[in-house]
Amino acid sequence: MNVNEAINKRKSIRKYQDREISAETASELLNAARKAPSAKNVQSHRYFVVKNKDIKEKLVNNKVFKQDYVYNAPLIIVCCADPSQYPKSVDVDETPEHYAYIDLSVAASFLILRATELGLGGVFVAWIYRDKLRKALNIPENYIIPFVLPIGYPAEDPPSKPRKSLNEICE
Ligand SMILES: Cc1cc2nc3c(=O)[nH]c(=O)nc-3n(C[C@H](O)[C@H](O)[C@H](O)COP(=O)(O)O)c2cc1C
Repeated sequence: MNVNEAINKRKSIRKYQDREISAETASELLNAARKAPSAKNVQSHRYFVVKNKDIKEKLVNNKVFKQDYVYNAPLIIVCCADPSQYPKSVDVDETPEHYAYIDLSVAASFLILRATELGLGGVFVAWIYRDKLRKALNIPENYIIPFVLPIGYPAEDPPSKPRKSLNEICE
């Protein structure tokens, strides 16, 4: 599958087969994120990978996600970034926090396209209770937690969502 095919194939997947994702495959995904570019090459992204049943149960018990399907994913990648990694002096009107959001989003896109290539499906989930999630996984206070990525082998094939035309998005 080439990049264009992965871009066109990717869609949000919210139902997953009861099939484990191997440690090697999980590493493939995280390595794709690792290769992404970042502002000043700071690489502020950090991931908490949830596979373990006990930890998942802790997330369920603490109701960290608004949507229950997230708990059913064989792999939940909690995507964080540490804005304090950037140099103190910031450029123009950019802030370290902006850079952290941008860099993490770029990296997560690499990850999700690699997942697509490997026959996996997932979805960006921002609908999370961050304080509860932070506590449950001991995520440092200074990390931002913009979204999580539940990932698994797809158990659904929903229709692709429509996109605006080029004319509508190019001004
Ligand atoms: C930043 C971001 C946050 C999102 N948050 C959620 C979410 O909390 N729950 C959810 O079910 N989908 C979430 N989505 C998925 C979007 O609804 C979905 O990507 C969009 O409708 C387009 O559909 P597609 O991904 O199938 O192309 C999110 C997507 C993005 C990019």
